[in-house]
Amino acid sequence: MITVFGSINMDLIATTERLPKPGETVAGNGFSTAAGGKGANQALAARRAGCGVRMAGAVGKDSFAVPALALLKDAGTELETVKTVDEPTGTALILVGGDGENMIAVVPGANGTVTADDADRAVGAMSEGDILMLQLEVPVAAVERALAAARAKGVQSVLNLAPLIDDAARLGRLADIVIANETEFERLAGQENMSADEREAALKRLNGETGQTLIVTLGADGVIAIRDGLLSRAKGLKIEPVDTVGAGDTFCGYFAASLDEGLEFEAALRRAAVAGSLACLKHGAQPSIPLSADVAKAL
Ligand code: RIB
Repeated sequence: MITVFGSINMDLIATTERLPKPGETVAGNGFSTAAGGKGANQALAARRAGCGVRMAGAVGKDSFAVPALALLKDAGTELETVKTVDEPTGTALILVGGDGENMIAVVPGANGTVTADDADRAVGAMSEGDILMLQLEVPVAAVERALAAARAKGVQSVLNLAPLIDDAARLGRLADIVIANETEFERLAGQENMSADEREAALKRLNGETGQTLIVTLGADGVIAIRDGLLSRAKGLKIEPVDTVGAGDTFCGYFAASLDEGLEFEAALRRAAVAGSLACLKHGAQPSIPLSADVAKAL
C-alpha cells in the first residue's frame, strides 16, 4: 500500500505552436482542463500500476474540487484523508508548445493548508511495509514532519524533489529514496552544471555518505540511479513527445508501485521509465498516465 502525501490541482492547459518569451503574447490553438497536481498524478500512476493507494491532501469547496479528484476516485484510490477547506482548489496554468515542452505556474490554494498534523494523521494510518510518497507542492513543514514520522515509524519514504524549492537539499536528506531531475539533483549535491561524470561521482559520494537510494531522471536519456553503492541505468521508449506534463509523476508513481509489488530495483526503474515515456504520448497529466497492461505490452 502506498500513501501519497501531496498536492491536488486542476490543470488549465493552453496549447500553442511555440512557448512565449517573457512579455510576449502568442496565439493559442487549444484549451482544456484536466486533473493534476504532482501528488495526485503520482497517486493515480501508482494506482494504475496496480497498487493500493491512499491520497492525503486538500481541496477547496469550489467547482474544481470534484473534477480534480474524479480520476483518482474512478480508479479506486482511498480519498478519506483528503480534507475540504475554505481555500480554492489548487490550480496550475500550463502552456504546452508544439514540441511538447511546457511552462507551468502553480497557485497552491488548498494545498497550502496542508499541515504537520495532517502529516501525522497520514503516516499514523500507515502499516508496516507501506511506502510513503511525497513531493514539494505542499508546505515544507508538512513534508518535513511526514518524512520524520515515516522514519520514526520505519516506513520507507520516497521523495520526489519537485518542484525545486529553497529547502529541497535539506528535505532531500530526510528521505530513504530521492527522485530528482538533473537540476534538482544538482541542488541536492550542491554543484551546478554537472557533466555526466560529475553526476556519477556525486551519486556515489552522496550514496556513500547517506546510504540513500538516489534516482536522477534524464528526460529522453532515461534514468541513472544508485542503490547500496551500485549504479544502474534504465531507458524509456524512443518516442516523439506530444506533451511531457506528468511524465515525471508517472515515473515516480510507477516506480513506487513496482517496489511495493516486490520488483527488483532495476526492473522497477525500467518499468517506470517506460510508463513515463507512454505518458508523453497524450495530452494532460492524469489522462495520459498509462494502465499497467499498456506498460507491460510496451516492455
Ligand atoms: O508535474 C505536473 C504537475 O505539476 C501538473 O499536473 C501541475 O498540476 C503541476 O503541479
